[in-house]
Amino acid sequence: MSVNTIGTQKIGEKIWTIVVAAGSGTRFGSPKQFELINERRVVDWAVETARAASDGVIVVLPATHAQSESGVVGGSTRSASVRSGLAAVPLDASIICVHDAARPFASEFLFHEVVDAVCAGADGAVPGLPVVDTIKFISNDNVVVSTPDRRQLVAVQTPQAFRAKVLRDAHASNPESTDDATLVETNGGRVVVVHGDPLNRKLTTPEDMNWARAITRGEV
Ligand code: C5P
Repeated sequence: MSVNTIGTQKIGEKIWTIVVAAGSGTRFGSPKQFELINERRVVDWAVETARAASDGVIVVLPATHAQSESGVVGGSTRSASVRSGLAAVPLDASIICVHDAARPFASEFLFHEVVDAVCAGADGAVPGLPVVDTIKFISNDNVVVSTPDRRQLVAVQTPQAFRAKVLRDAHASNPESTDDATLVETNGGRVVVVHGDPLNRKLTTPEDMNWARAITRGEV
């Protein structure tokens, strides 16, 4: 089904995006969302694209930054931070996207892809990439338990788009997960996968940050 658009806006839909940027960067060693890539902070890259693709954006930030940057204060986990954002999204939003600030190179096209899948009837939509490595389930003492079929696996990214009510319901009991699609699936929602983008890499380590800077300098 094609979705009618005027510019970037979908007819009859109010699209809001929550950008979660309240992490402490434990694995990185400092809050990576405030590192500079080509003179702009990681979070600013993510927010700029979210603004272009949405009717409104809520930025969830650490308490140290929220007030001065017109954001909302995050929680102690990613899911809690999403809930802080949800509380600030207007009730007339019909589709809500959740995006990690740690993915500065998500394209506007990717936002439209996940939103279009929700407009076409899914409860949620996530970008996914084929898994190239063989994945193993292991026990606590590092013994292989089983090996899932790689052809049935995808590595998922953000932005993730949801029918607003479905996302609010999924968060109602304050559950925890590393992404929002998991909460929607657990609640019985139908989440579809659209083509992810290899450039939409999550910046987790200092090496990821070096890669991101090299990309913007045209060195990769
Ligand atoms: O923890 P992780 O690296 O998976 O974080 C993904 C995104 O969630 C990051 O953009 C991070 O800033 C955000 N986050 C948050 N609040 C937390 C933890 C993570 O907004 N308490």
